[in-house]
Amino acid sequence: MIYVNNNNEFHLTTANTSYIIKVLESNHLSHLYYGRKIRNRDDFSNLYHNYVTPVGNETNYSKKHEHYSLNTTTLELSTYGKSDYREPSLHIEFSDNSRVSDFLFHSYNIYEGKKDIEGLPHTFQNEDTVTSLEIKLYDQVMDVYVLLQYSVFYDRDVITRSIKIINGESGRIKIVKAMSLNIDFDNCDYDLITLEGKWIREKHIQKQRLNKGVYYINSKKFTSSSDLNPFMCLSETDTTEDYGSCYGFSLLYSGNHQGLAEVSPHNQTRVQMGINPFDFSWLLDKKEEFQTPEVIMTYSNNGIGGMSRNFHDVINHNLIPVRWQFRKRPLLANSWEAAYFDFNEKKLLRLAKTAKELGMELFVLDDGWFKGRNDDTTSLGDWVEDRKKLPNGLEGLSNKINEMGLGFGLWVEPEMISQESDLYKRHPSWAIKLENREPSFGRNQLMLDMSNPNVINYLYKQLSSVFRRGKVKYVKWDMNRCVTDVYSSYLPKHRQKELAHRYMLGLYDLLNRLKTDFEDILFESCASGGNRYDLGMLYYMPQTWASDNTDPGERMNIQYGSSLIYPLSTLGAHVGSNPSHQVLRQNSIESRFNVACFGLLGYELNLNNLSNFEKKAIKKQVEFYKKHRKLLQYGTFYRIKSPFETNYAIWMVVSKDKEEAIVGYYQKLQESNKSLETIKLKGLEEQYMYHLESRAQFMNIERFGELINDYVPFNVKTNGVRGIIHKTVSDNYMYKNDVQKVDEYGDSLMYAGLKPLQQFNGAGFGDQVRYIGDFGSRIYYLKKVEVMEE
Ligand code: GLA
Repeated sequence: MIYVNNNNEFHLTTANTSYIIKVLESNHLSHLYYGRKIRNRDDFSNLYHNYVTPVGNETNYSKKHEHYSLNTTTLELSTYGKSDYREPSLHIEFSDNSRVSDFLFHSYNIYEGKKDIEGLPHTFQNEDTVTSLEIKLYDQVMDVYVLLQYSVFYDRDVITRSIKIINGESGRIKIVKAMSLNIDFDNCDYDLITLEGKWIREKHIQKQRLNKGVYYINSKKFTSSSDLNPFMCLSETDTTEDYGSCYGFSLLYSGNHQGLAEVSPHNQTRVQMGINPFDFSWLLDKKEEFQTPEVIMTYSNNGIGGMSRNFHDVINHNLIPVRWQFRKRPLLANSWEAAYFDFNEKKLLRLAKTAKELGMELFVLDDGWFKGRNDDTTSLGDWVEDRKKLPNGLEGLSNKINEMGLGFGLWVEPEMISQESDLYKRHPSWAIKLENREPSFGRNQLMLDMSNPNVINYLYKQLSSVFRRGKVKYVKWDMNRCVTDVYSSYLPKHRQKELAHRYMLGLYDLLNRLKTDFEDILFESCASGGNRYDLGMLYYMPQTWASDNTDPGERMNIQYGSSLIYPLSTLGAHVGSNPSHQVLRQNSIESRFNVACFGLLGYELNLNNLSNFEKKAIKKQVEFYKKHRKLLQYGTFYRIKSPFETNYAIWMVVSKDKEEAIVGYYQKLQESNKSLETIKLKGLEEQYMYHLESRAQFMNIERFGELINDYVPFNVKTNGVRGIIHKTVSDNYMYKNDVQKVDEYGDSLMYAGLKPLQQFNGAGFGDQVRYIGDFGSRIYYLKKVEVMEE
């Protein structure tokens, strides 16, 4: 809902939030308020706050507007050169070499629904209430317009914003900075929460107090990157997971981005997000337009958790392809950690057969299937199958896999080119590199120049043919290096600084064509794990491989951090090998599952190397996952304990009707003589009586070492060495862990809390003791039970 009142004030309202903009006397557009919903009024002048006497040495905007400085005005668009000294959100160089601009209110337009943003990922209306506002600003001197585009997603408590720059008749202009969002808060009492990371350690939460100065997050890598995800949360200093105010901002973009938070000398806080202005410029000729990507913003007064749920909602309803929304995602087996590059058709079919026996639904052939690809030094760009490994081609393999009753999925890394490839021999100029320098490498490969339409057309042709030949049902789209030697042989010299953004436009164009033509293919995006886990990619591909790290101890951090913004329906999570290939940690098969099942489950380990114990455990896991898949992929997510602050990660999902829930409980290190615990559950219905039961899981009795004889009804000699009996027993004997059952009301479970069974404390044993250990875990399932009225 958008109100416009007499004084040219715009009040954008969602179910629980208000966003208010005012056209000032000077015709600048001022930001008055964003936060918890306030009633609409005809006049919001009381919210406008500025100095009326001189403020020291601040400059005045003009003689006419005495003591009015843009430097102390909260703005919706900021430029340089007319008294604002904070970071400008828009900076343009004009043909006369001047760089000053001043955009004043021109007109506005309100309409129901939302227009598509051509060429870029965007949110869309989807059987819900969306209203849009466009405010046009004009710089009369330079004859340039700026369109501020807002869309209000009423039911989601989300507002999106982007800008469009429209050149007039006067001549060519050069945009050197065009941030999608500029918002100035009138105070500075905020913490800034961001997601930092690196390979196999993505999405770690960091929080810092905002002080005077400018704090940036950004990427210069041609991916959004796991270094600093394009996400910022501004939270009031007393905000917690469940209480208090916070704002979330995220950019729908997968390339070089920048976000900043600036606290000014006058204690105002500016937030911006957009394309990274570093090494960027864009030429606009007369009448041409430039569209920036979109930012999603949301406000919650239910703490960080509320903000996350708003993001989850808008992503699930208004961003990922409609075809995949709330659709059951397949349980898959992936060949990467099972075989790496070392496979042939026979080996793959053996893996697929076991996958089928264990209950999986899709078999994904990862890297190594195309011509000459036996390690990571060759062949990228030559998207034809390696006949030595696959004598019957993709078609033959896929047919056999389909006959087993499994779907067939395939890995590709289209944006890359190996120097040792037929493609490079034919088109060396298609690689991003400079003529006069030896290129730098990432994983032995170069990047294709996605700004070149010939590259896009080539990839479209090759990939369409591969997808058809292989009757492909799922694609893992990888991207394994970051850019260097930034230069395009395709673009003219004076447009070289457009390359980073044109790369993204080329990629998005390709993805759009493939998404449209292959709407039945489920695409999962990946960039060495989570190096491009962003809202831009999710518009084309509904899921992302969150990290190459499948170690549950590391994954609990990564998945917890990812959940700040990304819903479980987008998060690829696999059970990996033991010990973990990433950290060499030993982990039980149950803990690997217990973490991975909160997301889109797959198994990525050599299924033909499993013990009987593991196979039996996996069968049960698969049964559990299939039974509760909807809840685990689409339930409402609540965080209970943070692994960044405690020895635990605890989280839960609750069904929309609140009749079912699943709790995940993960421990890092075993404490000795562990105290009793209470877990306050969330999101349940107070009046409902629930039956809670821990998922029956199994422990390998090997874990007991010599103490084994206290548990099993027969005598096993261990002598420190794993003898044949010990081995046989531990591989086959499914020691059933504690099972806790509780019948309790929702209010009691949330406010008094669940009292989980005591942990093993070094002295007593029994079936009422939880043997958790290092990186151990439990899952609890809750279901509403009918209670007879008295
Ligand atoms: C990247 C991906 C992995 C795997 C390999 C294959 O590292 O993140 O999951 O697909 O590439 O080379």
